[in-house]
Amino acid sequence: MDKNPLEKFYDTLYSDSKPTFGGEKGEPEEFVQKIISYIKEGIVLELGAGQGRNALWLGRKGFDVEARDISSMGIENINKIAKEESLHVAGFKKDSRERLDKLYDVVISTYMFHHLTKKDSLEVFDNMKNHTKSGGLNVITIFTKVGDFFNMKPETDKYFPELGEMKEIYKDWIVLEYDEVKTRAKQTNEDGSPMFNVSSKIIAQKP
Ligand SMILES: C[S@@+](CC[C@H](N)C(=O)[O-])C[C@H]1O[C@@H](n2cnc3c(N)ncnc32)[C@H](O)[C@@H]1O
Repeated sequence: MDKNPLEKFYDTLYSDSKPTFGGEKGEPEEFVQKIISYIKEGIVLELGAGQGRNALWLGRKGFDVEARDISSMGIENINKIAKEESLHVAGFKKDSRERLDKLYDVVISTYMFHHLTKKDSLEVFDNMKNHTKSGGLNVITIFTKVGDFFNMKPETDKYFPELGEMKEIYKDWIVLEYDEVKTRAKQTNEDGSPMFNVSSKIIAQKP
């Protein structure tokens, strides 16, 4: 079957084994690093795991991680490093909209939802919530409407929440941490100026 354009885009980006996100060393997302102050072990699901900067870091901390992404290059990278380092991290080429069939201690997703429609994103949030154990965590970072990615194409059908919207989505959970952070993107505007976006970052606990 032909690859979809997004899959092709990320496969090309990840064909160089150098980290694409998280700086030169492919550091994990800061809200993912915060997980270990709440939970020390367990089963983690990552949706849209990319080249694995979060999944592999959590694996090194002793978590058992299932990482899903549509990019086969990303998944190959994750499985190669997990094997070399004997980590309990397994990558699967799977769409995040596919159904889940077990319960996890932690479900994370960083900077993936701008590729999904709002309808699909809300369904994935429900799926994440329903497949988290009681007392378990969801960790999400997401580009909001405030920023150049959204402004570049405001008519987009892809999901960019309003500021504060993620707290509403998790209002039936305990919001342990929430922040809205302005960061510089790798991409530049047509005039060469840097692109900035405000991301919502949330760690929520299932009651
Ligand atoms: C901006 S990258 C972020 C990667 C990683 N989460 C990180 O922070 O380094 C977005 C990722 O989402 C993946 N992705 C996009 N749509 C997806 C979908 N429907 N299901 C699974 N992964 C998806 C892409 O392949 C890409 O790896």
